[in-house]
Amino acid sequence: MNEPIDIAEADTRDLDEVMSVMTRAFDPRNGEAWTAAQCAGALSLPGSVLFLARRNGRALGFALARSVADEAELLLIAVRPDGQRSGAGRELIQNIVSHYAAKGIKRIHLEVRTDNPALAFYDCFGFVQSGLRRNYYRRSDGQFTDAATLSLEIA
Ligand SMILES: CC(C)(COP(=O)(O)OP(=O)(O)OC[C@H]1O[C@@H](n2cnc3c(N)ncnc32)[C@H](O)[C@@H]1OP(=O)(O)O)[C@@H](O)C(=O)NCCC(=O)NCCS
Repeated sequence: MNEPIDIAEADTRDLDEVMSVMTRAFDPRNGEAWTAAQCAGALSLPGSVLFLARRNGRALGFALARSVADEAELLLIAVRPDGQRSGAGRELIQNIVSHYAAKGIKRIHLEVRTDNPALAFYDCFGFVQSGLRRNYYRRSDGQFTDAATLSLEIA
């Protein structure tokens, strides 16, 4: 039985913990991980929010999103590989949805590689594909991968 997951809203002071997850969760070959400076830049924008999941005081996962007008975008979500499939991703998404629903946001969008197993994860929460961006991601080997745009109505 896993210890409980603690989810808290976080800020730039927590970026070392965020980066400890970032560097482990994203395969560098896919070029999806952000730098701490990119995260700080996103957090400086109005409507942004960062949630950090911890277990036993140790960073387990995070989700970073921002809103513009009545729509939000999930910019990044990640859970440490050794903590995946234990419900942290689910709790992070639920916190993002609750946060924006309380602010009157109507839908949440995200981009995901079309070959990312996370597609099955998003499907669990009712995200549906609303677009396809050809050759959106550039991998370190120079190859390009398509991105699916997914959307979830929350109001
Ligand atoms: C996507 C990600 C955040 C999911 O986090 P997680 O904590 O493992 O997710 P959860 O344990 O809450 O999973 C909830 C449900 O989603 C589905 N799911 C999650 N990961 C899945 C996978 N790899 N394959 C198929 N279904 C999956 C399952 O139905 C799961 O429920 P179950 O474990 O009871 O079957 C995590 O896999 C990750 O960090 N991936 C690398 C980073 C990434 O690609 N992020 C998304 C793009 S920004």
